[in-house]
Amino acid sequence: MSSILFSALLLLLLHQPLSAAANLHSKKSLFRSQPIFEPTLLLETPPTTYFEVTKPIPFPKTKPFSKLILQHDFAYTYGKPPVLSHYTPPPNFHSQKFSKIVLEWTATSKGRQFDRIFGVWLGGVEILRSCTAEPRATGIIWTVKKDITRYYSLLKSNQTLAVYLGNIVDSKYTGVYHVNVTFHFYPVEENSYVESDKGFGLGADLILPISRNEKLNDGLWFEIENSTNVESKEFEIPRNVYRAVLEVYVSFHENDEFWYGNFPNEYISANNLTGLQGNGPFREVVVKLDDLVIGAVWPFTVIYTGGVNPLLWRPISGIGSFDLPTYDIEVTPFLGLILDGKTHKFEFGVTNALNVWYIDANLHLWLDKKSERTQGKLLKYNASPLSLSLLSKFTGFDGNFVTNVSRSIRSSGYVKSSHGVIKTKSIQEFKYSNVMALGNEGNLQVLDQVIHFNGRVKTKMPSSSLESTKSLKKFRIHLDSNSVDKGNGTYYSVANVTLGLDEKLKKTSDFGIFTSKIKNLQNGHGNMLLKGNLVVSRLGSTQQKYRYSGGKSCYFRNVRSSNYTILHDEESNTCT
Ligand SMILES: *[C@@H]1O[C@H](CO)[C@@H](O)[C@H](O)[C@H]1NC(C)=O
Ligand SMILES: *[C@@H]1O[C@H](CO)[C@@H](O)[C@H](O)[C@H]1NC(C)=O
Ligand SMILES: *[C@@H]1O[C@H](CO)[C@@H](O)[C@H](O)[C@H]1NC(C)=O
Ligand SMILES: *[C@@H]1O[C@H](CO)[C@@H](O)[C@H](O)[C@H]1NC(C)=O
Ligand SMILES: *[C@@H]1O[C@H](CO)[C@@H](O)[C@H](O)[C@H]1NC(C)=O
Ligand SMILES: *[C@@H]1O[C@H](CO)[C@@H](O)[C@H](O)[C@H]1NC(C)=O
Ligand SMILES: *[C@@H]1O[C@H](CO)[C@@H](O)[C@H](O)[C@H]1NC(C)=O
Ligand SMILES: *[C@@H]1O[C@H](CO)[C@@H](O)[C@H](O)[C@H]1NC(C)=O
Repeated sequence: MSSILFSALLLLLLHQPLSAAANLHSKKSLFRSQPIFEPTLLLETPPTTYFEVTKPIPFPKTKPFSKLILQHDFAYTYGKPPVLSHYTPPPNFHSQKFSKIVLEWTATSKGRQFDRIFGVWLGGVEILRSCTAEPRATGIIWTVKKDITRYYSLLKSNQTLAVYLGNIVDSKYTGVYHVNVTFHFYPVEENSYVESDKGFGLGADLILPISRNEKLNDGLWFEIENSTNVESKEFEIPRNVYRAVLEVYVSFHENDEFWYGNFPNEYISANNLTGLQGNGPFREVVVKLDDLVIGAVWPFTVIYTGGVNPLLWRPISGIGSFDLPTYDIEVTPFLGLILDGKTHKFEFGVTNALNVWYIDANLHLWLDKKSERTQGKLLKYNASPLSLSLLSKFTGFDGNFVTNVSRSIRSSGYVKSSHGVIKTKSIQEFKYSNVMALGNEGNLQVLDQVIHFNGRVKTKMPSSSLESTKSLKKFRIHLDSNSVDKGNGTYYSVANVTLGLDEKLKKTSDFGIFTSKIKNLQNGHGNMLLKGNLVVSRLGSTQQKYRYSGGKSCYFRNVRSSNYTILHDEESNTCT
C-alpha cells in the first residue's frame, strides 16, 4: 500500500507464472491492497458514496462555527513534504466554550488508484490516521468525521496543520484525491451536562507531539522496518504535571499489511518460499519510557480499502479503515521518573516486525494550576515477559499452526500536587491466539485470530472516592481463502473475511457510573476469476452489524452490500 515499490511488486508478482509455489506468492499478493481495473462503466453513473459504519457523533444543538482549514488536490505527492496550512482558532475561542469540536475530511476522486494511508497533524500532534477509498471511473466521494474535542488545548492557539498522503499519479493510476479538511466548533449548550466529560474525562492542558519533526518528505510518523528497529523521541514535561496519558497511533503496511496471516519462518525455509511474508502472525508494539516498558499495543487488524478483495469494501469500508483506532497508555504512575525538568525519551519497537509500521504518539498532560511543582514516585512496576506457545506441524505446503501469547504490564505510583496525593494504578493485560491452517498445496489458508485486552486505571484522590476506568476489548479476525485451478490457465479465488471489534468501557467516579458497549461485526465474501494474469470477474459482498449503547444513548445499524450496491440498510437509535 502507498508506495512505488508496492505497485511495482504487485505487477511483478502478477506476471509470474501460476505454478503451485508461485501461485502461493501471487495469491498472497492478491490479498494486498490493490486497485480495480473496471472495464466499461456508464459515464452517467453518479459518484459512489463510500462510508464506514460507526455511531454518529452526538452534536450539541448549537450552531457550529465551521472553518475550511485545508483544500488540496493530492496528485503526485509521494516522497514530497506534507501539505501545510495555517490554523487559527475561531475569533471568540477564549470567551466562548465549545463542547464539541469535529474534524471533517471530505474527498472525491475519479479514475483508478491504490488505497493510500494518510495522517493529519496539528502542531505535530496526530489527530487522524486514515486510509483513502479507492476511486472508480465514475467517481467517488467519502466523508470522515472525527470528534477532536480531546485536542481542545491544542486548538486554542495558532498551529500548523500538516497532511501527508503519498499518492502517485501516472497514465495507469489516474486517481487524484481532492480533499477538504474542515473543523466544526459547537458552542456549549446552556445548562448542558455531558455525561462522559465529568472528572478526569476533561481534555489535557497540554499535548506534546511524540512524532518526527525533522524536515520531511514523508509523514510525521516513525517507520519501524524490522524487529530490531527502534525509533525514539526526546521530550521534556513541565514540572507541575499531575496526570499523563500517551495516545499511540499505529498502522501496518507492505510486508506486514496482513501480519496476522504471515507464515512461520520454518515453513518458508522448508518449502523454499523466500518471497513469502514471514516472522509468523504475532505482532506487538512496545512502548518504552527511558528503557522501561511502560505499555504495549496489540493492534486491531484494520484492512485497508484495497485489501483481500477491494469489492468487499465498496461502498462499506472496513472497520477502522477511515479512522484508525488509537491506543491509550497511562503514564501517570511513571511521572515521578520524569518530573525533574530533564530530557527523557519514548521509544517504539514492534516485536517480529517486517517492513513497515508507521507509529507515533501524543503525550496528553494535565497541569496543576495552583502549583509550580508536583512530585511523584513510582511505587510498583512489573512487566511480565511475553509468554509464547507455538504449535507448528506441516508436511510440504500443508500444515497447522497455533500461536498463543500473553503478557501483562502493571504499575502504580503517586503524584503530590495541590489536589493532595493522587495514587494511580494501571494494569494492561493481553491475550492472543492465532490458529492457522494451510491446505490444498498451500493455496488454502484459514486463520482465526483473537486478541483480548483488559485495561484498568484506578485513581485515588484525597478529596474523592476511588475513580476507575475499566476497558475491555476483543479484536477478532477470521480469514478463509482458497484458490482453485479451473484448467486452461484459469483460477478461481475465494476469500471470506470476518472482522469483529467489541469494546466495553466502565467509568466509576463520585459522579456515578458510566458504561458503554460497542459490538461491531463485518462478514465479507469475495471471489475472483483470473485468466492468465487478468482478473476476468470479481464479486464482493459485505454485511455489517453495529450496536452501541452508552449512558442513555444507543445506536444500531445493520447494512449489507454486494458489488457497490446497498441491498439492505436498517438504522435505529432507540435503546431496547
Ligand atoms: C471543498 O470546498 C470548496 C469550497 O467550499 C468546494 O467548492 C469543493 O467542492 C469542496 N470539495 C470537496 C471535495 O468537498
Ligand atoms: C495567529 O495567526 C493570525 C493569522 O495569521 C495572526 O493574525 C495572529 O497574530 C496569530 N496569533 C498569534 C498569537 O501568533
Ligand atoms: C533493521 O532496520 C534498521 C533501520 O532501518 C537497520 O538499520 C537495521 O540494519 C535493520 N536490521 C536488520 C537485521 O535488517
Ligand atoms: C530447497 O532448495 C534447496 C537448495 O536449492 C534444495 O536442496 C531443496 O531440495 C529445496 N527444497 C524444496 C522442498 O524444494
Ligand atoms: C491456545 O489458546 C486457545 C484459546 O485460548 C486454546 O484453546 C488452545 O488450547 C491453546 N493452544 C496452545 C497450543 O497453547
Ligand atoms: C480449454 O481450452 C480448450 C482450447 O481452447 C478448449 O477446447 C477446452 O474446452 C477448454 N477447457 C475448459 C475446461 O474450459
Ligand atoms: C465463503 O462464504 C460463502 C458465503 O457465505 C460460503 O458459501 C463459502 O463456503 C465460504 N467459502 C469458504 C472458502 O469458506
Ligand atoms: C460486479 O461489478 C463489476 C464492476 O461493476 C462487474 O463487472 C461485475 O459484472 C459485477 N458482478 C456481479 C456478479 O454483479
